[in-house]
Amino acid sequence: MKKQLGPSDAIFPVPAALIVCGTNENANIITLAWVGIASSTPPTIGISVRQSRYSLGLIRNTGEFSVNFPGASIFKEVDYCGITTGRRRNKFKDTGFTPMASRKIKPPIIKECPYNIECRVSQEIILGDYVHILGEIFESHVDEDKVDTSKRAGFDVLKINPLVYFAEAREYWSVGEKLGYGFNAGKDIKKKIKKP
Ligand SMILES: Cc1cc2nc3c(=O)[nH]c(=O)nc-3n(C[C@H](O)[C@H](O)[C@H](O)COP(=O)(O)O)c2cc1C
Repeated sequence: MKKQLGPSDAIFPVPAALIVCGTNENANIITLAWVGIASSTPPTIGISVRQSRYSLGLIRNTGEFSVNFPGASIFKEVDYCGITTGRRRNKFKDTGFTPMASRKIKPPIIKECPYNIECRVSQEIILGDYVHILGEIFESHVDEDKVDTSKRAGFDVLKINPLVYFAEAREYWSVGEKLGYGFNAGKDIKKKIKKP
C-alpha cells in the first residue's frame, strides 16, 4: 500500500547552494534548494527563484551568477543567507565569507565553498510564483586540496563533504557512504538477465 501525498515538491536530497549575484561592489548571496543540472551539452544549470526575491533583480541586471556548493560544516552560514535579505544586510560581511573574483563573470565566487561554477543566463521561464533561470556554465572551480586525479571527477567528494538538504523536513544533512558506481552498478542485474 502507498499513502498519497498530493502534488508534492518533496524530492530529496537537494543541494543547499549559495548563489552569488550582483557585481563585486553590490554582491549578494541567496540560498537556494531548487537547483539542478538541466543539460550536459551545453553544460547548463537551472535555479528557481521566487519572484519577490531581491536577488532576482541582481541576476537580471548582470545576466550572470555563480553557484557555490558549501561543505557540511558551514550549514549555519548557509541558513543565514536563506533567512536574511540583501536589501538590508551585506551577507558577505555578516557571514565572514570571502568574495573571490570569478574568471568569466562579474559576480564573485565564495572562497569558503569548495566547489563553484560560473554561469550566464540563457533562458528564463516564469512558473507561477517562481522564475526558473537556466544558466550556461562557463567555468568551474574546486579547492586545490580536494583535487584527486585518480577520481573520475578530478576531485574527492569525501574531502568536499557536501551539504545536502531535505527541503520538506527543513533538515540539513551530510552525505553517507559510497555504494557503487554509476553506469556500472546496474550491470550485475544485466548479467543475470538471460539473453533470449
Ligand atoms: C535551505 C533554504 C533553501 C531555500 N531555497 C530557495 C529556493 O530554492 N528559491 C527561493 O526563491 N528561495 C529559497 N530560499 C529562501 C531565500 O534564500 C531567502 O528568502 C533569502 O533571504 C532571499 O535573499 P534576498 O532577499 O537577498 O534575495 C531558501 C532558503 C533556505 C534557508
